Amino acid sequence: MRDPRTVFAEIGEAAFYQLTTAFYEGVATDPILRPMYPDDNLEPARLRLTLFLIQFFGGPTTYSDERGHPRLRMRHLPFAIDRAARDIWVSHMSAALEGLALAPDVREVMSRYFEDAATFLINRFDTPPTAIIARLEEIPRG
Ligand code: HEM
Repeated sequence: MRDPRTVFAEIGEAAFYQLTTAFYEGVATDPILRPMYPDDNLEPARLRLTLFLIQFFGGPTTYSDERGHPRLRMRHLPFAIDRAARDIWVSHMSAALEGLALAPDVREVMSRYFEDAATFLINRFDTPPTAIIARLEEIPRG
């Protein structure tokens, strides 16, 4: 698969702004995602995501120059991201990606990254880890 760090040079800065604009248009009217954003104005969040993605996909490191290490899992812990929220996030991002004219290998590496990153950020589970451990302890071992 294509190296994600080659994407910025391939598609350019404007494509990232276009992507996050379309993505946040979806978030703005989403009944599950919109209430999770603490700020009335989504524009600063959109800018942070844009700069992060530009950096991740091999562009300038303005995101970390301004915000430090991304630590995305930690920064998302205050937001209850369960499987459903993850899937909705990914569906808005996939729709936004559809709006860009991308070469298939670029589209593939970007989609794959969004799916994996969003899965990694799930921090609320239907079955809490403690319940799983309790259940395992009930299983007789021979
Ligand atoms: C899975 C569902 C997700 C939800 C519900 C979610 C929600 C949020 C919320 C509520 C914020 C705070 C808004 C703000 O910055 O003011 C945020 C910040 C952020 N999110 Fe997500 N997010 C999700 C997935 C992702 C993914 C997959 C990425 C990266 C590919 C990402 C990247 C970011 C970044 C870069 C920030 C700003 C971090 C900072 O510098 O403070 N998020 N997200």
